Amino acid sequence: MRLVNVVGARPQFIKLAPVLKAIEQHKIREPGCSIEEVLIHTGQHYDYRMSGVFFDELGLKAPDHHLGVGSGSHGQQTGDMLKAIEEVLLQIRPDWVIVYGDTNSTLAGALAAAKLHIPVAHVEAGLRSFNRRMPEELNRVVTDRISDLLLCPTETAVDNLRREGFTHVLNDGRLLPFDHGPRTTHNGPVAANVGDVMYDSVLLYTELAEQKSDVLSRLGITTGEYALATVHRAENTDDPQRLRGIFEGLARVAREGLPVIAPLHPRTRQALSRTSNLPPLGSSAPRLTLVEPVSYLDMLMLEKNARVVLTDSGGVQKEAFFFRVPCLTLRGETEWTETVEARWNSLVGCESHEVARVALLVLDRTVANSLSVPEPYGDGQAAQRVLSLLG
Ligand code: UD1
Ligand code: UDP
Repeated sequence: MRLVNVVGARPQFIKLAPVLKAIEQHKIREPGCSIEEVLIHTGQHYDYRMSGVFFDELGLKAPDHHLGVGSGSHGQQTGDMLKAIEEVLLQIRPDWVIVYGDTNSTLAGALAAAKLHIPVAHVEAGLRSFNRRMPEELNRVVTDRISDLLLCPTETAVDNLRREGFTHVLNDGRLLPFDHGPRTTHNGPVAANVGDVMYDSVLLYTELAEQKSDVLSRLGITTGEYALATVHRAENTDDPQRLRGIFEGLARVAREGLPVIAPLHPRTRQALSRTSNLPPLGSSAPRLTLVEPVSYLDMLMLEKNARVVLTDSGGVQKEAFFFRVPCLTLRGETEWTETVEARWNSLVGCESHEVARVALLVLDRTVANSLSVPEPYGDGQAAQRVLSLLG
Protein backbone atom coordinates (compact mmCIF):
# COMPACT_ATOMS: atom_id res chain seq x y z
CA MET A 1 0.00 0.00 0.00
CA ARG A 2 1.36 3.40 -0.98
CA LEU A 3 0.46 6.33 1.30
CA VAL A 4 1.14 9.99 0.72
CA ASN A 5 1.13 12.38 3.69
CA VAL A 6 0.64 16.05 2.81
CA VAL A 7 1.72 18.62 5.39
CA GLY A 8 2.92 22.22 5.27
CA ALA A 9 2.11 24.20 8.41
CA ARG A 10 3.41 24.00 11.99
CA PRO A 11 0.56 22.06 13.64
CA GLN A 12 0.62 19.52 10.82
CA PHE A 13 4.18 18.43 11.59
CA ILE A 14 3.03 17.73 15.14
CA LYS A 15 -0.02 15.76 13.93
CA LEU A 16 2.11 13.84 11.42
CA ALA A 17 4.64 12.64 14.01
CA PRO A 18 2.48 9.95 15.68
CA VAL A 19 1.22 8.72 12.31
CA LEU A 20 4.78 8.22 11.03
CA LYS A 21 5.61 6.46 14.31
CA ALA A 22 2.60 4.16 13.88
CA ILE A 23 3.78 3.29 10.37
CA GLU A 24 7.30 2.52 11.66
CA GLN A 25 5.92 0.32 14.43
CA HIS A 26 3.67 -1.49 11.98
CA LYS A 27 6.68 -2.25 9.78
CA ILE A 28 8.59 -3.63 12.78
CA ARG A 29 5.64 -5.78 13.87
CA GLU A 30 4.99 -7.04 10.36
CA PRO A 31 8.32 -7.01 8.49
CA GLY A 32 6.72 -8.39 5.33
CA CYS A 33 4.16 -5.59 5.11
CA SER A 34 4.13 -3.51 2.01
CA ILE A 35 3.49 0.01 3.31
CA GLU A 36 5.36 2.61 1.34
CA GLU A 37 5.08 6.15 2.70
CA VAL A 38 5.85 9.32 0.76
CA LEU A 39 5.96 12.71 2.48
CA ILE A 40 5.02 15.95 0.72
CA HIS A 41 5.81 19.28 2.42
CA THR A 42 4.02 22.10 0.63
CA GLY A 43 6.33 24.75 2.08
CA GLN A 44 3.44 26.81 3.50
CA HIS A 45 5.59 27.36 6.59
CA TYR A 46 9.30 27.71 5.89
CA ASP A 47 11.13 29.62 8.66
CA TYR A 48 13.30 27.22 10.65
CA ARG A 49 11.28 27.97 13.78
CA MET A 50 8.00 27.25 11.97
CA SER A 51 9.09 24.09 10.17
CA GLY A 52 12.65 22.67 10.30
CA VAL A 53 12.82 22.67 14.09
CA PHE A 54 9.93 20.18 14.27
CA PHE A 55 11.57 17.78 11.84
CA ASP A 56 14.82 17.94 13.80
CA GLU A 57 13.32 17.72 17.26
CA LEU A 58 10.67 15.08 16.60
CA GLY A 59 13.02 13.01 14.43
CA LEU A 60 10.71 13.21 11.40
CA LYS A 61 12.06 11.94 8.09
CA ALA A 62 12.98 14.64 5.59
CA PRO A 63 10.17 15.32 3.10
CA ASP A 64 10.45 13.30 -0.10
CA HIS A 65 9.02 16.25 -2.00
CA HIS A 66 9.41 19.82 -0.78
CA LEU A 67 7.23 22.06 -2.93
CA GLY A 68 8.52 25.38 -1.60
CA VAL A 69 5.21 27.18 -2.16
CA GLY A 70 5.66 29.76 0.62
CA SER A 71 3.33 32.61 1.52
CA GLY A 72 0.73 34.40 -0.59
CA SER A 73 -2.94 35.23 -0.86
CA HIS A 74 -5.30 32.32 -0.25
CA GLY A 75 -5.95 31.82 -3.95
CA GLN A 76 -2.33 32.05 -4.97
CA GLN A 77 -1.01 29.86 -2.18
CA THR A 78 -3.70 27.18 -2.54
CA GLY A 79 -3.51 27.25 -6.34
CA ASP A 80 0.28 26.89 -6.37
CA MET A 81 0.04 23.97 -3.96
CA LEU A 82 -2.71 22.30 -5.97
CA LYS A 83 -0.65 22.38 -9.15
CA ALA A 84 2.53 21.17 -7.48
CA ILE A 85 0.84 18.40 -5.45
CA GLU A 86 -0.96 17.15 -8.55
CA GLU A 87 2.35 16.75 -10.39
CA VAL A 88 3.77 14.63 -7.56
CA LEU A 89 0.62 12.53 -7.19
CA LEU A 90 0.61 11.80 -10.92
CA GLN A 91 4.12 10.35 -10.57
CA ILE A 92 3.40 8.36 -7.40
CA ARG A 93 -0.19 7.19 -7.91
CA PRO A 94 -0.74 6.36 -4.24
CA ASP A 95 -3.55 4.29 -2.74
CA TRP A 96 -4.29 7.01 -0.18
CA VAL A 97 -3.54 10.67 0.40
CA ILE A 98 -3.66 11.68 4.07
CA VAL A 99 -4.29 15.32 4.95
CA TYR A 100 -4.35 16.95 8.38
CA GLY A 101 -6.39 19.70 10.00
CA ASP A 102 -7.70 22.77 8.23
CA THR A 103 -4.99 24.77 6.51
CA ASN A 104 -4.60 25.68 2.86
CA SER A 105 -2.19 22.72 2.59
CA THR A 106 -5.02 20.45 3.77
CA LEU A 107 -7.44 21.74 1.17
CA ALA A 108 -4.90 21.63 -1.67
CA GLY A 109 -3.83 18.06 -0.81
CA ALA A 110 -7.40 16.81 -0.64
CA LEU A 111 -8.53 18.56 -3.81
CA ALA A 112 -5.52 17.45 -5.86
CA ALA A 113 -6.08 13.83 -4.81
CA ALA A 114 -9.87 13.80 -5.20
CA LYS A 115 -9.64 15.16 -8.76
CA LEU A 116 -7.26 12.33 -9.62
CA HIS A 117 -9.67 9.82 -8.03
CA ILE A 118 -7.19 8.99 -5.30
CA PRO A 119 -8.91 8.25 -1.97
CA VAL A 120 -8.47 10.94 0.67
CA ALA A 121 -8.20 10.35 4.42
CA HIS A 122 -8.79 13.49 6.50
CA VAL A 123 -7.26 13.46 9.96
CA GLU A 124 -9.19 15.87 12.22
CA ALA A 125 -12.38 15.64 10.19
CA GLY A 126 -15.71 17.03 11.37
CA LEU A 127 -14.53 20.03 13.36
CA ARG A 128 -16.69 23.09 12.97
CA SER A 129 -16.67 26.63 14.34
CA PHE A 130 -19.81 27.46 12.33
CA ASN A 131 -18.09 30.68 11.35
CA ARG A 132 -17.63 30.74 7.59
CA ARG A 133 -15.55 33.91 7.79
CA MET A 134 -12.67 31.78 9.05
CA PRO A 135 -10.53 30.47 6.19
CA GLU A 136 -10.04 27.29 8.24
CA GLU A 137 -13.81 26.63 8.36
CA LEU A 138 -14.02 26.74 4.56
CA ASN A 139 -11.02 24.42 4.32
CA ARG A 140 -12.66 21.98 6.76
CA VAL A 141 -16.05 21.93 5.09
CA VAL A 142 -14.65 21.44 1.58
CA THR A 143 -12.04 18.88 2.65
CA ASP A 144 -14.61 16.80 4.50
CA ARG A 145 -16.97 16.92 1.53
CA ILE A 146 -14.36 15.39 -0.80
CA SER A 147 -12.77 12.93 1.65
CA ASP A 148 -13.39 9.20 1.62
CA LEU A 149 -12.29 8.47 5.16
CA LEU A 150 -13.23 11.06 7.78
CA LEU A 151 -11.02 10.48 10.80
CA CYS A 152 -12.67 12.42 13.60
CA PRO A 153 -10.92 13.34 16.86
CA THR A 154 -14.11 13.45 18.98
CA GLU A 155 -17.74 12.39 19.11
CA THR A 156 -18.70 16.03 18.66
CA ALA A 157 -16.92 16.01 15.30
CA VAL A 158 -18.78 12.84 14.28
CA ASP A 159 -22.07 14.47 15.27
CA ASN A 160 -21.24 17.52 13.14
CA LEU A 161 -20.72 15.26 10.14
CA ARG A 162 -23.91 13.35 10.81
CA ARG A 163 -25.81 16.63 10.78
CA GLU A 164 -24.27 17.38 7.39
CA GLY A 165 -25.58 14.11 6.00
CA PHE A 166 -22.67 11.70 6.48
CA THR A 167 -24.51 8.56 7.44
CA HIS A 168 -21.90 5.81 7.43
CA VAL A 169 -20.30 6.12 10.87
CA LEU A 170 -18.25 3.24 12.26
CA ASN A 171 -18.99 2.24 15.86
CA ASP A 172 -21.73 4.85 15.96
CA GLY A 173 -19.31 7.69 16.68
CA ARG A 174 -17.86 6.15 19.84
CA LEU A 175 -14.10 5.71 19.94
CA LEU A 176 -13.31 3.00 17.42
CA PRO A 177 -12.18 -0.26 19.03
CA PHE A 178 -8.90 -1.72 17.79
CA ASP A 179 -10.42 -4.92 16.52
CA HIS A 180 -12.37 -3.06 13.88
CA GLY A 181 -9.82 -3.62 11.14
CA PRO A 182 -9.81 -1.87 7.79
CA ARG A 183 -12.79 0.15 6.71
CA THR A 184 -15.72 -1.69 5.21
CA THR A 185 -16.35 -2.01 1.50
CA HIS A 186 -19.03 0.67 1.73
CA ASN A 187 -18.72 2.83 -1.35
CA GLY A 188 -19.49 6.25 0.07
CA PRO A 189 -17.48 8.20 2.64
CA VAL A 190 -16.90 6.56 6.00
CA ALA A 191 -16.49 8.47 9.29
CA ALA A 192 -15.05 7.20 12.57
CA ASN A 193 -13.99 8.63 15.91
CA VAL A 194 -10.35 7.57 16.15
CA GLY A 195 -9.31 10.03 18.89
CA ASP A 196 -7.02 13.02 18.61
CA VAL A 197 -3.54 12.59 17.14
CA MET A 198 -2.41 15.71 19.04
CA TYR A 199 -3.13 13.86 22.27
CA ASP A 200 -0.97 11.01 20.96
CA SER A 201 1.83 13.54 20.36
CA VAL A 202 1.61 15.00 23.85
CA LEU A 203 1.83 11.52 25.35
CA LEU A 204 4.72 10.62 23.05
CA TYR A 205 6.84 13.70 23.64
CA THR A 206 6.21 15.10 27.11
CA GLU A 207 8.82 12.91 28.78
CA LEU A 208 11.41 13.90 26.19
CA ALA A 209 10.46 17.55 26.71
CA GLU A 210 10.98 17.17 30.48
CA GLN A 211 14.47 15.79 29.81
CA LYS A 212 15.59 18.11 27.04
CA SER A 213 13.90 21.49 27.34
CA ASP A 214 15.55 24.24 29.36
CA VAL A 215 13.05 26.86 28.24
CA LEU A 216 11.97 27.92 31.73
CA SER A 217 15.49 28.69 32.90
CA ARG A 218 16.35 30.29 29.55
CA LEU A 219 13.42 32.68 29.93
CA GLY A 220 13.99 33.18 33.65
CA ILE A 221 10.56 31.93 34.71
CA THR A 222 9.39 29.40 37.28
CA THR A 223 6.65 26.80 37.35
CA GLY A 224 3.22 28.28 38.08
CA GLU A 225 4.57 31.83 38.11
CA TYR A 226 3.78 33.00 34.58
CA ALA A 227 1.04 33.15 31.97
CA LEU A 228 1.61 31.81 28.44
CA ALA A 229 0.03 33.54 25.44
CA THR A 230 -0.12 32.80 21.71
CA VAL A 231 -1.97 34.80 19.05
CA HIS A 232 -1.98 34.08 15.32
CA ARG A 233 -5.52 33.69 14.03
CA ALA A 234 -6.18 35.95 11.01
CA GLU A 235 -9.40 37.29 12.54
CA ASN A 236 -7.28 38.68 15.41
CA THR A 237 -4.04 39.69 13.70
CA ASP A 238 -5.70 41.35 10.71
CA ASP A 239 -8.05 43.51 12.76
CA PRO A 240 -6.05 46.28 14.50
CA GLN A 241 -8.76 46.82 17.09
CA ARG A 242 -8.85 43.18 18.13
CA LEU A 243 -5.07 42.93 18.08
CA ARG A 244 -4.81 46.01 20.24
CA GLY A 245 -7.47 44.69 22.63
CA ILE A 246 -5.63 41.42 23.10
CA PHE A 247 -2.21 42.97 23.66
CA GLU A 248 -3.58 45.63 25.99
CA GLY A 249 -5.23 42.84 27.96
CA LEU A 250 -1.98 40.86 28.07
CA ALA A 251 -0.04 43.96 29.17
CA ARG A 252 -2.47 44.44 32.04
CA VAL A 253 -2.20 40.81 33.11
CA ALA A 254 1.59 41.28 33.12
CA ARG A 255 1.37 44.48 35.17
CA GLU A 256 -1.22 43.38 37.71
CA GLY A 257 -0.89 39.60 37.71
CA LEU A 258 2.01 37.47 36.52
CA PRO A 259 4.70 37.81 33.86
CA VAL A 260 3.39 36.87 30.41
CA ILE A 261 5.47 34.93 27.89
CA ALA A 262 4.23 35.24 24.30
CA PRO A 263 5.97 33.25 21.54
CA LEU A 264 4.96 35.24 18.46
CA HIS A 265 3.89 33.72 15.16
CA PRO A 266 5.56 35.67 12.30
CA ARG A 267 2.13 36.82 11.14
CA THR A 268 1.54 38.46 14.52
CA ARG A 269 4.98 40.04 14.67
CA GLN A 270 4.31 41.64 11.28
CA ALA A 271 0.84 42.76 12.30
CA LEU A 272 2.18 44.35 15.49
CA SER A 273 4.85 46.22 13.57
CA ARG A 274 2.15 47.57 11.20
CA THR A 275 -0.03 48.79 14.06
CA SER A 276 1.28 52.21 14.99
CA ASN A 277 -1.10 53.02 17.87
CA LEU A 278 -0.01 49.96 19.80
CA PRO A 279 -0.63 49.33 23.46
CA PRO A 280 2.24 49.77 25.87
CA LEU A 281 4.60 46.94 25.09
CA GLY A 282 8.26 46.80 26.06
CA SER A 283 9.33 49.44 28.53
CA SER A 284 5.94 50.19 30.10
CA ALA A 285 4.97 46.50 30.26
CA PRO A 286 8.33 44.93 30.99
CA ARG A 287 6.78 41.72 32.26
CA LEU A 288 5.18 41.00 28.86
CA THR A 289 7.93 39.15 27.01
CA LEU A 290 7.55 38.63 23.27
CA VAL A 291 9.77 35.83 22.00
CA GLU A 292 10.30 34.04 18.68
CA PRO A 293 8.18 30.92 18.05
CA VAL A 294 9.50 28.10 20.23
CA SER A 295 10.07 24.43 19.44
CA TYR A 296 7.44 21.82 20.29
CA LEU A 297 9.35 20.43 23.27
CA ASP A 298 9.80 23.95 24.65
CA MET A 299 6.13 24.67 24.02
CA LEU A 300 5.03 21.55 25.89
CA MET A 301 7.07 22.67 28.90
CA LEU A 302 5.76 26.24 28.69
CA GLU A 303 2.18 24.94 28.59
CA LYS A 304 2.58 22.33 31.30
CA ASN A 305 4.12 24.73 33.79
CA ALA A 306 2.03 27.83 33.09
CA ARG A 307 -0.50 29.09 35.59
CA VAL A 308 -2.85 30.08 32.78
CA VAL A 309 -2.77 29.92 28.98
CA LEU A 310 -4.29 32.64 26.77
CA THR A 311 -4.54 31.68 23.11
CA ASP A 312 -6.46 31.73 19.86
CA SER A 313 -4.75 28.53 18.69
CA GLY A 314 -6.74 25.33 18.37
CA GLY A 315 -3.80 23.10 19.25
CA VAL A 316 -2.71 25.17 22.23
CA GLN A 317 -6.24 25.17 23.73
CA LYS A 318 -6.22 21.40 23.68
CA GLU A 319 -2.71 21.01 25.01
CA ALA A 320 -3.60 23.27 27.96
CA PHE A 321 -6.52 20.91 28.60
CA PHE A 322 -4.30 17.81 28.35
CA PHE A 323 -2.06 19.32 31.03
CA ARG A 324 -5.09 20.54 33.00
CA VAL A 325 -3.95 24.15 32.87
CA PRO A 326 -6.77 26.74 32.70
CA CYS A 327 -7.13 28.25 29.24
CA LEU A 328 -8.71 31.50 28.07
CA THR A 329 -9.54 31.44 24.38
CA LEU A 330 -9.16 34.77 22.61
CA ARG A 331 -12.07 34.09 20.28
CA GLY A 332 -15.85 34.03 20.35
CA GLU A 333 -16.14 30.34 19.51
CA THR A 334 -14.10 27.16 19.55
CA GLU A 335 -14.09 23.88 17.68
CA TRP A 336 -12.88 22.11 20.83
CA THR A 337 -16.10 22.50 22.79
CA GLU A 338 -15.26 19.63 25.17
CA THR A 339 -12.58 21.78 26.82
CA VAL A 340 -15.20 24.43 27.61
CA GLU A 341 -17.76 21.88 28.80
CA ALA A 342 -15.13 20.43 31.14
CA ARG A 343 -14.57 23.97 32.48
CA TRP A 344 -10.86 24.14 31.68
CA ASN A 345 -11.40 26.63 28.85
CA SER A 346 -13.36 29.90 28.64
CA LEU A 347 -14.15 31.95 25.56
CA VAL A 348 -13.12 35.50 26.44
CA GLY A 349 -12.95 37.16 23.02
CA CYS A 350 -10.42 39.92 22.43
CA GLU A 351 -11.66 42.94 24.33
CA SER A 352 -8.86 44.11 26.66
CA HIS A 353 -10.93 44.55 29.84
CA GLU A 354 -12.55 41.17 29.54
CA VAL A 355 -9.27 39.39 28.73
CA ALA A 356 -7.57 40.98 31.74
CA ARG A 357 -10.57 40.62 34.08
CA VAL A 358 -10.98 36.88 33.50
CA ALA A 359 -7.23 36.20 33.51
CA LEU A 360 -6.76 38.02 36.83
CA LEU A 361 -9.71 36.09 38.28
CA VAL A 362 -8.14 32.80 37.23
CA LEU A 363 -4.80 33.83 38.74
CA ASP A 364 -6.58 34.46 42.03
CA ARG A 365 -8.05 30.98 42.09
CA THR A 366 -6.43 27.81 43.26
CA VAL A 367 -6.81 25.34 40.45
CA ALA A 368 -8.55 22.19 41.57
CA ASN A 369 -6.45 19.54 39.91
CA SER A 370 -8.82 16.97 41.31
CA LEU A 371 -11.63 18.18 39.01
CA SER A 372 -12.97 15.05 37.44
CA VAL A 373 -12.95 15.46 33.68
CA PRO A 374 -13.99 13.21 30.86
CA GLU A 375 -11.36 12.08 28.35
CA PRO A 376 -12.97 13.21 25.11
CA TYR A 377 -9.81 13.03 23.01
CA GLY A 378 -9.20 9.30 22.98
CA ASP A 379 -6.55 7.14 24.58
CA GLY A 380 -3.36 8.19 22.84
CA GLN A 381 -3.74 5.54 20.11
CA ALA A 382 -5.41 7.66 17.45
CA ALA A 383 -2.58 7.26 14.95
CA GLN A 384 -2.76 3.46 15.22
CA ARG A 385 -6.45 3.62 14.42
CA VAL A 386 -5.79 5.91 11.44
CA LEU A 387 -3.42 3.33 10.04
CA SER A 388 -5.66 0.36 10.72
CA LEU A 389 -8.55 2.01 8.87
CA LEU A 390 -6.50 2.54 5.74
CA GLY A 391 -6.47 -1.24 5.37
C1 UD1 B 1 -1.86 28.90 8.87
C2 UD1 B 1 -3.26 28.31 8.77
C3 UD1 B 1 -3.92 28.33 10.13
C4 UD1 B 1 -3.05 27.65 11.17
C5 UD1 B 1 -1.65 28.25 11.15
C6 UD1 B 1 -0.75 27.46 12.07
C7 UD1 B 1 -4.34 28.70 6.61
C8 UD1 B 1 -5.36 29.48 5.88
N1 UD1 B 1 -4.09 29.09 7.86
O1 UD1 B 1 -2.02 30.26 9.25
O2 UD1 B 1 -5.14 27.61 10.07
O3 UD1 B 1 -3.62 27.80 12.42
O4 UD1 B 1 -1.11 28.19 9.83
O5 UD1 B 1 0.34 28.19 12.49
O6 UD1 B 1 -3.77 27.79 6.07
N2 UD1 B 1 5.11 33.54 7.65
C9 UD1 B 1 6.46 33.66 7.85
N3 UD1 B 1 7.21 32.53 7.93
C10 UD1 B 1 6.68 31.28 7.84
C11 UD1 B 1 5.29 31.17 7.62
C12 UD1 B 1 4.52 32.31 7.53
O7 UD1 B 1 6.98 34.77 7.94
O8 UD1 B 1 7.42 30.29 7.94
C13 UD1 B 1 4.29 34.77 7.59
C14 UD1 B 1 4.10 35.27 6.16
O9 UD1 B 1 4.13 36.67 6.18
C15 UD1 B 1 2.68 34.81 5.83
C16 UD1 B 1 2.00 34.85 7.18
O10 UD1 B 1 3.00 34.49 8.12
O11 UD1 B 1 2.06 35.62 4.89
C17 UD1 B 1 0.83 33.90 7.29
O12 UD1 B 1 1.22 32.57 6.94
P1 UD1 B 1 0.16 31.56 6.30
O13 UD1 B 1 0.79 30.25 6.10
O14 UD1 B 1 -0.52 32.17 5.12
O15 UD1 B 1 -0.98 31.46 7.39
P2 UD1 B 1 -0.85 31.30 8.97
O16 UD1 B 1 -1.30 32.57 9.59
O17 UD1 B 1 0.47 30.75 9.32
N1 UDP C 1 3.55 25.47 18.93
C1 UDP C 1 4.93 25.41 19.03
N2 UDP C 1 5.61 26.58 19.20
C2 UDP C 1 5.01 27.79 19.28
C3 UDP C 1 3.59 27.83 19.18
C4 UDP C 1 2.89 26.67 18.99
O1 UDP C 1 5.51 24.33 18.98
O2 UDP C 1 5.70 28.80 19.43
C5 UDP C 1 2.80 24.22 18.74
C6 UDP C 1 1.74 23.97 19.79
O3 UDP C 1 2.31 23.30 20.91
C7 UDP C 1 0.73 23.11 19.04
C8 UDP C 1 0.82 23.66 17.64
O4 UDP C 1 2.07 24.32 17.54
O5 UDP C 1 1.13 21.75 19.04
C9 UDP C 1 -0.30 24.62 17.39
O6 UDP C 1 -0.08 25.28 16.20
P1 UDP C 1 -0.67 26.71 15.87
O7 UDP C 1 -1.05 27.41 17.13
O8 UDP C 1 0.29 27.37 14.97
O9 UDP C 1 -1.94 26.37 14.97
P2 UDP C 1 -3.42 25.85 15.27
O10 UDP C 1 -3.37 24.72 16.21
O11 UDP C 1 -4.21 27.01 15.78
O12 UDP C 1 -3.90 25.47 13.91
